[in-house]
Amino acid sequence: LINIRRLLGRAFEGAAAPFGARAVERMLRDGMPARLALPLRVLFGASPPAHAIEVAERIETLRAALAGRAETFQVSWSTDPRHAVTARYLAEIASVPRRWGMFLHVCAEAFEAQTIVELGACLGISGAYLASIRSQPRLITIEASEARVPIARSTLASVTDRAEVVPGTFEERLQSVLDRAGRVDVVYVDGHHAEAATIHYVRTVMPYLASEALVVLDDIHLFRDMWRAWQTVSSMPGVTAVNIGRFGLLVTGSGTRGYDLSRYSGWWRVGGPRAVQQPEMSHTQRQF
Ligand SMILES: C[S@@+](CC[C@H](N)C(=O)[O-])C[C@H]1O[C@@H](n2cnc3c(N)ncnc32)[C@H](O)[C@@H]1O
Repeated sequence: LINIRRLLGRAFEGAAAPFGARAVERMLRDGMPARLALPLRVLFGASPPAHAIEVAERIETLRAALAGRAETFQVSWSTDPRHAVTARYLAEIASVPRRWGMFLHVCAEAFEAQTIVELGACLGISGAYLASIRSQPRLITIEASEARVPIARSTLASVTDRAEVVPGTFEERLQSVLDRAGRVDVVYVDGHHAEAATIHYVRTVMPYLASEALVVLDDIHLFRDMWRAWQTVSSMPGVTAVNIGRFGLLVTGSGTRGYDLSRYSGWWRVGGPRAVQQPEMSHTQRQF
């Protein structure tokens, strides 16, 4: 089923890309932050920079190796072994796929990131996309699952020596991570997809952001409460909010504006209520 969804998703992407690309140009003329120009053009079909392609190839090789590992992993919301997930699931479903990893990478370059904070390392795939930009930024990523922390460290060590995986929950660690990080250029929130938690994380990082910074929220359409969280944070004064479907982008330093590109990336429908705490169940619910 996932493979069929992927195929349909790719077909949709191809068909919708020219319309998305046109909408991006229109929105840039209308005042959407210029730093988003290249990432969004690449998202909607323009060729990525050569460096980004090279990085993506390396990271996708790492992903394939991780997916082939034999171990299973406990999920954070259950101690029942029947709920354990495979390495393949974490690498291929829970981790950001190539297209969106590339988007994160090009965004980090566009915002000239020197310091990046990530909530939810998992196996280190998205962190690797973010940390491998040419300026070699510092990346601090938080991960509650003890078994995933050493794997994320090893993934990140393949692309940078400036990444740190902090074990523990966001609730315990975020404040001290931000105090150490100083000025943060890019934040990627990819775990604990609940309304109050998401709003809290965004409000907590705001005072630490650089004057022109980017906050990326994953899975804003996945559950109703994530959608409500997006409604709240995207109407904060002083941020430009861009709904690109899978991700919600908040950009500081560019006035209070809102843009919606979700219909062109295939993620316009809002998911249902969340039955249980399932932070890993992130990326299976693509809509097109
Ligand atoms: C969707 S996965 C992250 C995927 C990763 N960003 C990537 O794309 O490669 C979410 C991760 O967040 C972690 N997580 C969820 N809630 C958390 C919390 N409250 N504190 C710390 N880690 C949490 C989970 O253990 C899981 O590994």
